[in-house]
Order: sequence, then C-alpha cells, then structure tokens
Amino acid sequence: MAVPFTLAHLSDIHLGPMPDGALWKEFALKRAIGWLSWRFNRKKLHDPAVADMIAADIAAAAPDHVALTGDLVNIASPAEFPHGARWMDSLAGPQEMSFVPGNHDAYVAFPWNRGLGHFAPWMEGEMRLKMAAPFPFVRLRKNVALIGLNSGVPQPLRRAGGVLGQKQLESLALTLRDLRERGYARVVLIHHPPLPGLSAPHKALSDAGELRDVLAAEGAELVLHGHNHEHMLNTLNSRFGTVHVLGVPSASLVDNEHHPFAAWNLYQIQRQAGKWQIDVSIRSYDPASRQISRLTEFVLSS
Ligand SMILES: [Fe+2]
Ligand SMILES: [Fe+2]
Repeated sequence: MAVPFTLAHLSDIHLGPMPDGALWKEFALKRAIGWLSWRFNRKKLHDPAVADMIAADIAAAAPDHVALTGDLVNIASPAEFPHGARWMDSLAGPQEMSFVPGNHDAYVAFPWNRGLGHFAPWMEGEMRLKMAAPFPFVRLRKNVALIGLNSGVPQPLRRAGGVLGQKQLESLALTLRDLRERGYARVVLIHHPPLPGLSAPHKALSDAGELRDVLAAEGAELVLHGHNHEHMLNTLNSRFGTVHVLGVPSASLVDNEHHPFAAWNLYQIQRQAGKWQIDVSIRSYDPASRQISRLTEFVLSS
C-alpha cells in the first residue's frame, strides 16, 4: 500500500510578545487601535508558549509538509515580520512549510520588502501563472499540490474581511483544472473561510460566492483556512467530487469562552481505489495538563 502524504495545518498564531516600538515606529491609526486591542485583550488570550508547544507537537509528528494559513502577526508593524519569520523558520524551513497571508498580516498597507516579503520564502511556488503573481502559488510535493491564495488586504477600521479579486480567481480556475488533469490531490490554502455565510459580514471574504463557483466547477480535494478561530468542517459538491473545507482554531489561544483552545490538524492523504482518502486527526491544547493531545479523528473521502 502506498505511503500517505502527511500534512500539518495550523493558523492564526497572533505571535506575541509584541516587539518593542511596534506601535510608534510607523504610526497608523488602525495600528494604534490594534495595539490597544492587543495590550488590553488579545495579549491575555494568545500565549506564545502554547504556540511553541503546538509547533513542538507538529515537529514530533514529522509531517511531510506544514501549512500555516495566516494571521502570524498582529498589527503588521515593522518588527513583527522578522520575528514571525524566525518563528516559522524554527518550525520548518521554506521547502517544508507553506504560508498564506491573513488580514492581520496585511493590517495596514506596508511595503512588501519590509513586511510580507520577510515571509516570501514560504510563499514561493514552482508553478506560477503570470496573471496574478505571486498568488496563487503552487508547490508540488509527491502526488499533492499545495495552492496558496492571498485574501489578506488592508481593511478599514473594525473590519477584518478579505478579497481575492478576479485575476487570482481566474488563475485559480486554470490551476485547479491543470492539476486535476495531472492527477494531483489539490490542497487550497486561504486565510478566510472560502464559502459564503461562514463568517460574519464584517469579517467575510467578499468574493466567497465567486470562489465557491470556481471550486464547484473545477473541484479540489481539500480547502484549508483559519480566521474564525474555530474547528470548522464544511463540504461543497463539485463536478469532480466532494470538496472538503476545514478550518482550525488559533494555534495560541488559551483563554476565551467563545473560542476553542489552541489546536492543529494532521491530514494523511492517499489514493484508495481511484478516490482520494484523507484521514484527519485533530490535536488540541489541554489547559489542565498543559499538554497537546488527540481530540478526535475521522476519515474524508472524495
Ligand atoms: Fe486570527
Ligand atoms: Fe484573520
């Protein structure tokens, strides 16, 4: 029997502590309000020590690849990006891990080379359609294709939505078709929940309807997202089988009555009798024992 491809999925690190001077170095009103939210609210909720425990649990599982679906940083301040890149590098190098930006990574408009450019090695694909470069990126690993989308764009105050745009959607459709014809299991990575109605309107992907139509027309084996800080499992019927859509909680959340504790998902992807089978294991932080342990497991089939 073929050896499955193993993929770890984590999201929404909201990495702390906030580096000194994060607020004042390049002042922006949205950053200032975001810093206050961090200082008096989020700082209590997101524990970098728990994010490190999640990272160690992933490393112990030794997956073939790791997917991090955004919100690595908090207010997109200059010092947060090198800090985030060092954190990613300590978990897995750019060849072993893929990253897509979230709304917090694009909190305010900021030059690429001083901001998200620090994460570029984790976003470089082997195949890149010129239309919407650098997204979607495509990385081929054994019989699995990882397709990275960018839904993180600067938003007005008190909004956390996302958008893909027509060019990225058109590139995605061509990419999904090509990879299907070449026999790859297609795993789409996006920060925002990709289907209509999965997020409150002020936090939603504005072109989720268009993305749903692309997925329904071309198919995909898995779509992995973050953003809602929840365990989520949704399905979409496509012309080419069931599209499984999974979201993970924040990988650092320790204390919030409205959201689950930090967790990550492990997927084992293999071809069985002409179909893709995906074994899912969800591993979660337990505050009583301060350990990461298996919460549940189940099997998905296309
Ligand atoms: Fe988040
Ligand atoms: Fe988010």
